[in-house]
Amino acid sequence: MEKLTIEEARRLNDTMVTEEHLKLHAANVAACMGAMAQHFCEDKEHWEAVGYLHDYDYEKYPEEHLAHTKEPLKAAGVPEGDIRAIMSHGYGICTDVEPVSDMEKSLFTVDELSGIIQAAARMRPNGITDMEVKSFMKKWKDKRFAAKCDRPLILKGCEMLGMDIKDVSEICITGMKEHAEELQLTGTGE
Ligand SMILES: [Fe+2]
Ligand SMILES: [Fe+2]
Repeated sequence: MEKLTIEEARRLNDTMVTEEHLKLHAANVAACMGAMAQHFCEDKEHWEAVGYLHDYDYEKYPEEHLAHTKEPLKAAGVPEGDIRAIMSHGYGICTDVEPVSDMEKSLFTVDELSGIIQAAARMRPNGITDMEVKSFMKKWKDKRFAAKCDRPLILKGCEMLGMDIKDVSEICITGMKEHAEELQLTGTGE
């Protein structure tokens, strides 16, 4: 294949990932990547596909994350550039593949950021559907909120992108709003 499609990304991911929360995480990251692609005037569906597949080996190999990605994806015909992008999201943690392109820097950043946005949206009656960046930034600044999410890592990604955390967050929220149903973020209606 010339570039990874969303159908192929889902198919490949489904061969490895069974846990619902991990599938949701894949979809969250994909939604954010689509919005980042639009920001950079790049191929939205392509970036979504790469985002969807980024944690391909995590469920089966949590202790060896990204050590079981390169070879099988290559064998499945995923282009080198897309594999590189996936590998680079573990830069400094479990790979030494530095994010260089806008796609790679975006993936590195939204992987963790999407988790905080998801957590914030889940606490709201209308989920992500009416969430504004201003209210999200309050959660961002509250270090006790979603404390497990690595804020310094996200800021490192923003620095790579040369973008402000508020701007990246706004883009991601917009992307996640578009997929609110799929992400189960339409709220409790309470
Ligand atoms: Fe990962
Ligand atoms: Fe991830």
